[in-house]
Amino acid sequence: MNTILVTGGAGYVGSVLIPSLIDKDYNVKCLDRFFFGKDFFSKNNFPNNLELIQDDIRWFDPKILDDVDVVLDLAALSNDPVGDLAPEKTFEINHKGRTRVAKLSKEHGVKQYVLASSASIYGQQKDIATENSTVHPLTSYSKANNKAEIDNLPLNDDSFTVTALRFSSIYGISPRMRFDTAVNCMVLDLFKNKKINVNGKENRRPFIFTKDVVKAYITIINASKEKIGGQIFNVGSNEQNVTMDELANKIVDSINEPCEISINDTNDHRSYFASFKKIEDILGFTTDYSIKDGAVEIYNALKTNQVSDDIKTKTVEWYKYLLKNPESAKDLMINNTLL
Ligand SMILES: NC(=O)c1ccc[n+]([C@@H]2O[C@H](COP(=O)([O-])OP(=O)(O)OC[C@H]3O[C@@H](n4cnc5c(N)ncnc54)[C@H](O)[C@@H]3O)[C@@H](O)[C@H]2O)c1
Repeated sequence: MNTILVTGGAGYVGSVLIPSLIDKDYNVKCLDRFFFGKDFFSKNNFPNNLELIQDDIRWFDPKILDDVDVVLDLAALSNDPVGDLAPEKTFEINHKGRTRVAKLSKEHGVKQYVLASSASIYGQQKDIATENSTVHPLTSYSKANNKAEIDNLPLNDDSFTVTALRFSSIYGISPRMRFDTAVNCMVLDLFKNKKINVNGKENRRPFIFTKDVVKAYITIINASKEKIGGQIFNVGSNEQNVTMDELANKIVDSINEPCEISINDTNDHRSYFASFKKIEDILGFTTDYSIKDGAVEIYNALKTNQVSDDIKTKTVEWYKYLLKNPESAKDLMINNTLL
């Protein structure tokens, strides 16, 4: 039975990914600061096969890597507004921290390392971006992802397989819910206000459902070294390359409730579509879920009170709150540091 270390494993993606890994009989170590809590991972839900480690990717004791086979490196200040709140911390964690994880993994005999990168590093593209396109990272978050790719991919060698996954913008329900990503946020707008705010109607973006992100990770973990060593893959599907305006209309059509769409200007200049031909051709990876599936899932979860839009679901608001209220952040401090 392989042991997988998931950094940032208690986040939006990690808390959907880890239960699937445990279902597949992997032993999992979850290394996380637990900025968004860890209640979901209590012993009641996960009696076996899961070890929780509250630590920071910048400082953790590398001994925890000794019995690890695969590292899935997700820990990050995870979006553009957070990156702009604390740009130097974003580089420290998302770039230097994850390069530290990759280098230590190699030194400690880990066989495979997978970097969670983002398609947002394409920034602005006229043509559909392939993995060979020149990237135009526009924000601290995207620039840090780019630097992590540049430093980590060359560590690939015969005994250490390194891959970077450039994920589309992710949607769907998670135990650590986020209402600060486009689809989730629009469904919440529809549910609460019967009005979706579209910021930058022509902005182009690729999307992917959480369960398809899990499918991509399982595909990569099981792929042969020859196919994935030193490689970058865009992760998503060509059908889910849509403009923000098309996205809002798709969501309204999926939910079938009366809803106004309000178009606003934006200073967000990110606009890119990505090609997903490489991951399909080389790994046979295709997505199973659509934006409609995700929108309906989120809407139903809101309707039945399975999720709420509390402050923790707005990533940047939550980090700002913790920084302003050190009392609430007491248990989250490590080395006297919050971020
Ligand atoms: N959600 C998306 O749409 C999306 C899209 C593309 C790429 N990604 C990437 O996927 C990864 C996971 O994203 P997410 O949406 O789950 O974000 P998230 O913010 O929900 O999760 C990140 C986790 O990392 C932890 N963390 C932060 N700093 C840490 C540190 N220094 N040491 C240890 N743990 C730390 C946080 O506590 C949190 O649990 C990130 O690398 C993100 O950049 C996400």
